[in-house]
Amino acid sequence: MSNKATLEIDGKKYEFPLIVGTENEVAIDVKSLRSATGGVITIDPGYKNTGSCESAITFLDGEKGILRYRGYSIEELAEKADFLEVAYLLIFGELPTQDELDKFHSDIKSHSVVDDDIKKILEAFPKSAHPMGVLSSLTSALTAFNPTSVDVDSEEEMYNAIVRILGKFPVLVAWTMRKKHGMPLEYGDDSLGYVENVLKMMFKSPNGDYEQNPILVNALDKLLILHADHEQNCSTSTVRIAGSSHAGLFVSLASGISALWGPLHGGANQAVLEMLEAIKEDDGDTKKYMAKAKDKEDPFRLMGFGHRVYKNFDPRAKIIKVAADEVLSQLGVEDPILDIAKGLEKEALEDSYFVDRKLYPNVDFYSGIIYRAMGIPVEMFTVMFALGRLPGWIAQWKEMRTKKEPIGRPRQLYIGETYREFKTIKNR
Ligand code: ACO
Repeated sequence: MSNKATLEIDGKKYEFPLIVGTENEVAIDVKSLRSATGGVITIDPGYKNTGSCESAITFLDGEKGILRYRGYSIEELAEKADFLEVAYLLIFGELPTQDELDKFHSDIKSHSVVDDDIKKILEAFPKSAHPMGVLSSLTSALTAFNPTSVDVDSEEEMYNAIVRILGKFPVLVAWTMRKKHGMPLEYGDDSLGYVENVLKMMFKSPNGDYEQNPILVNALDKLLILHADHEQNCSTSTVRIAGSSHAGLFVSLASGISALWGPLHGGANQAVLEMLEAIKEDDGDTKKYMAKAKDKEDPFRLMGFGHRVYKNFDPRAKIIKVAADEVLSQLGVEDPILDIAKGLEKEALEDSYFVDRKLYPNVDFYSGIIYRAMGIPVEMFTVMFALGRLPGWIAQWKEMRTKKEPIGRPRQLYIGETYREFKTIKNR
């Protein structure tokens, strides 16, 4: 293959280099397009064809259903690693040795206390507030309590900022849930693993201890790993672009949390469960919802179906579907919602509307069923996604800052009014 792409505008030819990634993906490098052509730009709403960066963190092949973190397959990581190992891998590029992992965990624990004044901010929210809005606000508020900006050229400062947020974020996650449910705010227990500690902070009753259930620990660990990174998705791109103005790590993460909240992105896990509940209330009439999803006059979409990148299957959905079956049977939970989900999936996979558009279940089609079986309230589902995605956002922010990427500032094609003379108010 030639290493150049040629573009012809008005009979004049311009050449642009082709860049090839380590997995042989090819990109046209248009960095010089505007200056070479005297102002021509590319336009690509939703960035369906635009690479915003070169990245060495996550590889995915949507046609083949491949997802790898730093070269390791998601299937192997979900089976053999734990969430903290995966977090280390994403952020620092290599799987940790036992000593490295122990130090990482101990440093995280030493930063897991949140300033008590954060509770006053939390108190000001009404109970009706959605936990994602609260989490985003509290993450941003952490900046006020940790005001020193991070020198990104100092590995030590970068490391300290990373372990600080990994320590404090689960506390905020647990507190948003406890506040909504009128429960006293608790701290965790340093003798526990990262995921065990999250569960204890969320569920410990004020007048009793919390008994760990290994089924729940394993299920949450797996879900967090599956959500840990997904290259340049909406929330990650938001984190990178916010951070590209040299905004700090915590506020960049807060922007990512807001982007994740939407039902077309992370908010889909809550929307899926609400949709399945609605179908159940409607006597399990899946046909009605299939018809609504296909009706172009109806804004309804089959939540948990379709993906910008996966056009064959979402490898995370395959793992989660098996896990949902396992977790429900291990916990002895019979949930009619699981049967509705399986029925809906079968119908969609046999329907030409979904087949022709290559719409398959995504990571969030089955995750809510597991969260529900674990006793996690539905409005917390997207918060759990954020907890899982945290290492990915951190890794992407770190990569963007250490590579000294320029500020993210897209162009536009202006299609508004051309120059008009100002009219005074009485002449309008
Ligand atoms: N139900 C019904 N039709 C759908 C669905 C769906 N879930 N998803 C896509 N389509 C249709 C569109 O209407 C469009 O049809 P058309 O070609 O006749 O106009 C076609 O499939 C292509 O859809 P786009 O919206 O152009 O695809 P895009 O890549 O922009 O969107 C998205 C991807 C946002 C995930 C979309 O599939 C969707 O809205 N899914 C439901 C929400 C969801 O589950 N989001 C979670 C994604 S995973 C994650 O973020 C963690």
